[in-house]
Amino acid sequence: MKKIFYILIAFVLTTFSIGSFANSEGEAMYSALGCASCHGANGRSNDESIPSLAGKDVEWIILQLEYFQSGERENSYMNAMAPMAAGFERSIAEYLSIQDPQR
Ligand code: HEC
Repeated sequence: MKKIFYILIAFVLTTFSIGSFANSEGEAMYSALGCASCHGANGRSNDESIPSLAGKDVEWIILQLEYFQSGERENSYMNAMAPMAAGFERSIAEYLSIQDPQR
């Protein structure tokens, strides 16, 4: 019985640390690539010409980044920025999706 308990704990801890690794990677890339300078801290934009990203759907964010990368969606800033997020689309999107859009 005790053994099962330890296995369960180990499982929960591993799952949790993998999850938080993706988020901290996303957070690090979001600030390192300068996304925050336009889209605001935690994805909450203070500039009405720039959309907020906090709380947006993960798959939707990834799709938008891919559209900007391919040029299917045109915006001079984002066509330059999106390629820099290559390889980190999902971790950035996951980080943004769990940010509170309010506050
Ligand atoms: C120089 C300012 C600037 C920077 C830096 C920037 N963005 Fe953007 N971003 C914009 C603008 C402006 C738009 C709106 C484009 C449009 O109207 O089509 C946008 C749109 C987006 C969208 C779609 C949002 C929507 O509501 O349609 C996503 C997702 C996004 N940016 C992610 C990022 C990520 C991730 C980074 C960092 C790699 C980044 N942006 C860096 C200015 C910027």
